Amino acid sequence: MIIVFGSINLDLVVALPRLPQPGETVVGPDHQTFAGGKGANQALAAARAGGRVRMIGAVGNDAHAAPALANLEKAGVDLSHVRHLPGSTGIAMIGVDAAGENLIMCASGVNARVVADWLQGEVREHDLLVLQRELALEPIEKAIAMARRNRARVLLNAAPSAGGGLARLVDDVDILVANRQEAAELAAERGKADASASPEDLLGVLSSPDRLTVITLGGDGLVAREGDILWRVKAPKIDVVDTTGAGDAFVGALAAALDRGADTERALKEGTAAGALACQATGAQTSSPDKAAIAALVERI
Ligand code: RIB
Repeated sequence: MIIVFGSINLDLVVALPRLPQPGETVVGPDHQTFAGGKGANQALAAARAGGRVRMIGAVGNDAHAAPALANLEKAGVDLSHVRHLPGSTGIAMIGVDAAGENLIMCASGVNARVVADWLQGEVREHDLLVLQRELALEPIEKAIAMARRNRARVLLNAAPSAGGGLARLVDDVDILVANRQEAAELAAERGKADASASPEDLLGVLSSPDRLTVITLGGDGLVAREGDILWRVKAPKIDVVDTTGAGDAFVGALAAALDRGADTERALKEGTAAGALACQATGAQTSSPDKAAIAALVERI
């Protein structure tokens, strides 16, 4: 089973002619509301890709809680371990420009009060624990230790960047997924790379013989390494509407493929296909693809 331990948000999205600079106001026509949060997006993507998924996290006791969970519920994600706490559901304010690039500001709300104790007895051998960096560092650290003790596999997605503190955890996970910026930060935290390092250089710093290390490169695909094997996967060309959640779709589909026992190359391709397909509509979860759509696009990768 895939256990996603992470954030659940409601996203307020505004289409903008361009993204604002610090101190600037840019006006868009209207806003739309979508379910989001990196943890929830990854749980949904894994379920749509065919995985059996349990989400462990928290929503508040406000009006945002139900819409934040609606897609997960519809996709059959086990929500029995999502707690409803007094306080606010996490919120993300997202601007999306005409090229589909985004700028995200988050208010953690009750995501900041998620604790690792909620995982007690829930992470077992053969499970795949999926983590991101939108929870506090302490529960992430404890969750990894718990999974290690119970011989579950751990996938750590080092998103969002600028969270800091993850570099020392990298050696305790089985699968690391970072985008280029996150990889550069992890490498810098390890004191081993400068801003000009190439993705291959970063892979050299972050990989180890017994870990699958993946650096995602947006429209340029990814580079990955496991043991002596190096992969470069090209992203298929698609019409980009909104890149929000593309990384989460990649992680969810990768997790689903690895959990069902697919080989690494196939899993990387399925993740890449899911990430591309997820860019085709506004909203992090809107175009998170099902396994048939992923399988069809994999043929072109
Ligand atoms: O990765 C995209 C997600 O980041 C959004 O859904 C938003 O909620 C933020 O967590």
